[in-house]
Amino acid sequence: MESMIEFRNVKKAYGDKTVLKDLSFCVEKGAFVTIIGSSGSGKTTALKMVNGLLRPDFGDIFISGENIRGKNQTQLRRNIGYAIQGSVLFPHMTVEQNISYVPNLLNKRNKQKTRDAVDKWMRIVGLEEDMKQRYPAELSGGQQQRVGIARALAASPDILLMDEPFGAVDELTRAQLQTELQRIYRQTGVTVLFVTHDIAEALKLGTKVLVMDRGEIQQYGRPAELLNRPATEFVRQLTAQQRRTCHLPDDRLADCRYSGMRWDEA
Ligand SMILES: Nc1ncnc2c1ncn2[C@@H]1O[C@H](COP(=O)(O)OP(=O)(O)OP(=O)(O)O)[C@@H](O)[C@H]1O
Ligand SMILES: [Mg+2]
Repeated sequence: MESMIEFRNVKKAYGDKTVLKDLSFCVEKGAFVTIIGSSGSGKTTALKMVNGLLRPDFGDIFISGENIRGKNQTQLRRNIGYAIQGSVLFPHMTVEQNISYVPNLLNKRNKQKTRDAVDKWMRIVGLEEDMKQRYPAELSGGQQQRVGIARALAASPDILLMDEPFGAVDELTRAQLQTELQRIYRQTGVTVLFVTHDIAEALKLGTKVLVMDRGEIQQYGRPAELLNRPATEFVRQLTAQQRRTCHLPDDRLADCRYSGMRWDEA
C-alpha cells in the first residue's frame, strides 16, 4: 500500500517535558485513522506536526514519501484540511465567506467555480442554503462544526486532519455527522486522521485505530485487532466495554465474528 503520512522516530518536548517519545507509524493512502488516548498523551501535538503548525525536535515526517522538513508551509497546507473543535471559524465572516476562503485563494479568477464549491460542500455536510449569509455566532454548535468541516473539505485536500470535531454536539447530531463524514470519506477517497476521546467513535469510524498513552503508541491496528488482541493493559481496559457489547457497523462485521464473549477474526 502507498504511504500517505509517515512519522519516523518523531520526538517532541515542551521545555523539559517530553510529549512524544519516539513516534513511528504509517498511514496508508485512503485510510481513515482514528487516534485515541488519555488527555495530554500528545494527540493534538502529533496532528499539528502533519501540517507544519509544530515541528519535531528529532525525527522526520513524510507526506506522499516526501520529507516535509523545510517545506513551504503554504504549499503544505494547501493539500491538508484542518478541522478542530471550538473557534475554527472566522467570526467576522459569513458562512459562505468562511467556506469559500481557500477556494477563493485557489481560483482567484473564477468566482463561479468558488460559488459552486460552496453550494456543493454545504449540501454534502447538510447545511441549509439560507445559512450562507449568517455569521458563526448565529449558528448552533453542531452547525458551526458542519461549516468547519465544509471549509476544511472545500479546498479538496488529500489529507483531512480532524481534532475532536464532534466534541460539542449531542448524541443524535454526532451520529448524523459521523454518517456524513463516512459518506464524504468514501466519495472523495481522502486520507483522514481523526482524534477522538470516544472509543466507540474510534472503532466505528476508523479503518485503523492508533492508541496513545504518555507520548507512546500502545497499539495501532484494525478495530477488530484492538478488540481481539489488545496489545497492552491500557488497550484492554479501553476496549473492555466494546468487547462485551460490540458496536461495529455492519460493513465491519465482515472483519470479525462474534462468538460468546469475544470477537474472532473471520
Ligand atoms: N505550547 C505548549 N507548551 C507547553 N506544554 C504544552 C504545549 N502544548 C501542549 N503541551 C503539553 O503537552 C502535552 C500534550 O499535549 P496535547 O495537546 O498534544 O495532548 P492531547 O493528547 O491532545 O490531549 P487532549 O486529549 O486533552 O486534547 C500536555 O501535557 C500539554 O500540557
Ligand atoms: Mg488534544
